[in-house]
Amino acid sequence: MKEGTSVLITGAAGFIGYHLSRYLLEQGVSVFGIDNLNDYYDVNLKKVRLELLSRYEGFRFVRADIADEDALPDCFRQAKPGIVVHLAAQAGVRYSITNPEAYLQSNLVGFFRILEACRHAEALCGTGISHLVYASSSSVYGSNRQVPYRTADQADHPVSLYAATKKSNELMAYAYSKLYGIPATGLRFFTVYGPLGRPDMAYFSFTDKMVRGEKIQLFNNGDMYRDFTYIDDIVSGVAKVMSRIPDPDENGVRHKLYNIGNNRPEKLMYFVETLEQCLMEAGVIDRPAQKEFLPMQPGDVYQTYADIEDLIKDFGFRPGTDLRDGLAEFARWYAGFYPRAQKTD
Ligand SMILES: NC(=O)c1ccc[n+]([C@@H]2O[C@H](COP(=O)([O-])OP(=O)(O)OC[C@H]3O[C@@H](n4cnc5c(N)ncnc54)[C@H](O)[C@@H]3O)[C@@H](O)[C@H]2O)c1
Repeated sequence: MKEGTSVLITGAAGFIGYHLSRYLLEQGVSVFGIDNLNDYYDVNLKKVRLELLSRYEGFRFVRADIADEDALPDCFRQAKPGIVVHLAAQAGVRYSITNPEAYLQSNLVGFFRILEACRHAEALCGTGISHLVYASSSSVYGSNRQVPYRTADQADHPVSLYAATKKSNELMAYAYSKLYGIPATGLRFFTVYGPLGRPDMAYFSFTDKMVRGEKIQLFNNGDMYRDFTYIDDIVSGVAKVMSRIPDPDENGVRHKLYNIGNNRPEKLMYFVETLEQCLMEAGVIDRPAQKEFLPMQPGDVYQTYADIEDLIKDFGFRPGTDLRDGLAEFARWYAGFYPRAQKTD
């Protein structure tokens, strides 16, 4: 990335936003973070992430909702970003059943406001946006059965509103790239894990359950394969993607989609046992978890993982962190962040 580049990151208090911001700040890049600090999960965790980022001189932060019409233009005027990394979203699949409105506001209205701010960047900050990088999700593959999932596959069968909003974002970004010449790259993230991670994700809630001595449920007797990528691998991949705009496609549009994940799916049972061992070594738990083995659930997929050939070819992306090392980092962080007494109260 060119020296002096200013990067605007939405969702900077979130899991990926925090780690990406920290990585860029370490490289001397200025980061302007935006986040509304919503209470979808423990707000304290978001505040801690921000506190850690505020130690860097190059970090500025505004608490704002991206769906608010005036917020983004104001932030663009202040930040004058060269690159925008849009990570703010209402995440989670299950929550979209109980609270669909949150997805419409953050993921559709909010995304539209991002695109509009990029479109008017020249007027707002005197210079245009050189690259918009935005988060999509592996959930766009919905009920697709064929693995590994490829970006060339049709992804028109979402099984949640969350997935539908992410797929919509890809179409909206394409249209804005075409209409207003905004170079944009969409990243379909697969499951990301690591320190300061998201409490709503399975590896985190398994950990919470193990700490409370509750049973964890393993479907198909744990005989399922999933894609897990350590946060540092993801961050280095995103940083690589940020540094180069996509070539024009056959319609002359500078828009490209990539899967970003791991092409080595792990057996769920191995994942859980490794997590268990790492948590024991870190002193988070003192005995293996109680496990409840259940049959395959209707709609469950046996195996999901990413085809990341394009990212390897275009950017030399290679997620290298061994699962055991990554989970050990998570366990050590968890041990420090949630002292045992507090969790078992
Ligand atoms: N972590 C994963 O495994 C994963 C997988 C697939 C896709 N993604 C996508 O990657 C992005 C980042 O995910 P994450 O894991 O860091 O999630 P996260 O929930 O930790 O971070 C998102 C942040 O955005 C903020 N936010 C939400 N709505 C907002 C709004 N309207 N205005 C301002 N801020 C708002 C939240 O407060 C949160 O801090 C999301 O778009 C998510 O959908 C993540």
